[in-house]
Amino acid sequence: MASAASASIKATLSSEASNWNPENAYFPGEFAWGAATAAYQIEGGWDADGKGPSVWDTFTHQGGDRVFKNQTGDVACGSYTLWEEDLKCIKQLGLTHYRFSLSWSRLLPDGTTGFINQKGNCSFKIESCAALIQGVDYYAGVIDSLLMNGVTPVVTLYHFDLPQPLEDQGGWRSGATAEAFDAYAQFCFRTFGDRVKLWITINEPYVVAVLGYEKGLMAPGVTEPGTGAYLAAHNMIKAHAAAWHSYDRLFRKKQGGLVSIALNSDWAEPFNPNSLADREAAKRHLAFCLDWFATPIFLDGDYPAVMKSKIAAVCKRQGSPSSRLLEFTSEEKTMIKGTADFFALNYYTTRKIKHQDNLCTQPSMSADKEAEQVTDPSWPVATGSSWLAVVPWGLRRLLKYIKDTYNHPIIYITENGFSQSDPAPLDDTLRWEYFRLTLQEILKAIYIDGVQLKGYFVWSLLDNFEWTCGYSSRFGLFHVAFENSALPRLPYRSAIEYAKVIANNRRVKLDG
Ligand code: GAL
Repeated sequence: MASAASASIKATLSSEASNWNPENAYFPGEFAWGAATAAYQIEGGWDADGKGPSVWDTFTHQGGDRVFKNQTGDVACGSYTLWEEDLKCIKQLGLTHYRFSLSWSRLLPDGTTGFINQKGNCSFKIESCAALIQGVDYYAGVIDSLLMNGVTPVVTLYHFDLPQPLEDQGGWRSGATAEAFDAYAQFCFRTFGDRVKLWITINEPYVVAVLGYEKGLMAPGVTEPGTGAYLAAHNMIKAHAAAWHSYDRLFRKKQGGLVSIALNSDWAEPFNPNSLADREAAKRHLAFCLDWFATPIFLDGDYPAVMKSKIAAVCKRQGSPSSRLLEFTSEEKTMIKGTADFFALNYYTTRKIKHQDNLCTQPSMSADKEAEQVTDPSWPVATGSSWLAVVPWGLRRLLKYIKDTYNHPIIYITENGFSQSDPAPLDDTLRWEYFRLTLQEILKAIYIDGVQLKGYFVWSLLDNFEWTCGYSSRFGLFHVAFENSALPRLPYRSAIEYAKVIANNRRVKLDG
C-alpha cells in the first residue's frame, strides 16, 4: 500500500477518533462513497459490435431452468447503450467512486490478445465497422465521463464472465487461463491505466470456484465435487498474483495505482459459544472461504494450515493416497505472497456454525470443512434472497478479524447490499434501515476497533440480472423497469437517503 495514503488515513483516523462520540459520528474526510455493478449484470449488448460470448451467455442460452424463468443478460439494464442514464444515477447519488467491471470478451472476443475489439481493428467489413462503438471505446467513454464528473473509477477485470473460448479449453481448471488472464490484465493496465488507479483483478474467486466448478450452479456449470473448486481456486490465485506482478513491474511506477482482489465472506459465529468443537468449526468456515484466498495472498503464499490438514485427513479416510487440495511450489508461494495493495471485502451475511463430522465416502468440498451452517431464526431475511440474513454486526466482527489476521490492512468494502423481491416498492424504508444499521457498524469498526476502512460500495447501483435469480431479486439503489423497453431508472428511497448521507457531511446518526 502506498505509504503516503496509509499515513494520511492513519492521521485522519487518530484525529477523528479523539472526537469520537457515538451519538454524533462522522465518516473520515477522504472516505470513498461508492456503488458497484458488473458487466454481465447490467450491460446487455451480449453480441453487439464484435463482442465474443462469455460463459454466462452460454449458460443462460442453454436454458434448462437453471436461471429464474430462463432469463438472460442479453439486454439486462442496457447499460452498453444507456451509459448516460447510469451516469445520471451516479451523479444523483453524489458518489465519489463507482465500481464496475470490464467484459473480458467485449475487449478480447476470444479471450486472448490476438484480437482486440477496437475501432479500426474490426473483423467485419470496414464500412459497417466505422459506425460501431467497440469494446475499448465503450469503456474509455465510461472512464472518461466518470473522471469528468469527479467520480473515481474502480475497475474489476473479471466478474464471473469468462470468455467462452477459454472455458472450451478448460477454463479455470487450466493453467493456460491464468496466463491468458495475465495478458488480458496487462492489456487493460496499458489501455486504461493512465486513468484508472484502483483495480480489482478477480471478483469473488470463492463463488466462481464453488458455484462454477464444484456445484455447477453458476456458469460454467461444472460439477466436480471435491476437486473442481480447489483446482479453479488454485489457478485463480496464480492468475491474480501474475497480474499483480505485471502491474508492479511494468505499470506501477508510471501509473501509481493499486491492485487487489475482491474476496467475499460471511462472518461465522459458533452455534454454541461454549463448545470448543463449534468454535473450531466457525474458524474453519472462515478458513474455507476467506482465508483460502487471503492467507496465500496477504500472508505467506500458502493455503491455511487448517485447510491443508483437514482435507488431507478426509482424503486419507476416503482411501485417497494424496490430498485433493493442490500444493503451491516454493517459487509459486514466493510469487503469490504479498500480492494485494489493499483488502477488498464483499460482505452480505453471517452464519452460525456447528461442528459436523464428515461421514461422506464421496469427495465434497463442503463436507471437507466439517462445519454445518445455520441461520438464526431471529435474524431478518432480505425479501429478494433467501440466503441473505441481515446481520450488520457481523460485518463489524469480520472487519476486526481481517484487521487482526491480515496485519491491519487498508480495507474497502467493495460490495454490501440487501435485495427486495419483485415487485419491489420504491419506498424501501426497511431496506434503508438495514443500510443505516450497517453504516453504524462501519463507524464503530473505524472508531472503536481502529479498522483502516477507506470506503464502502453499495451493491448495486441498479436493479440488474442477479445471476440464477434473474430479475426477480432487486439489489439496486435505482429501480429498473425491465418490462419497459426504455429501461427507465427510478430512485428507491434508499438512494435518496444514501445521497443525503454522502452529502450531509457523511454523517449517520447513531441513535434510532
Ligand atoms: C455477489 C456478486 C454480485 C451480486 C451480489 C448479490 O456475490 O459479486 O455480482 O450478484 O453477490 O448477490
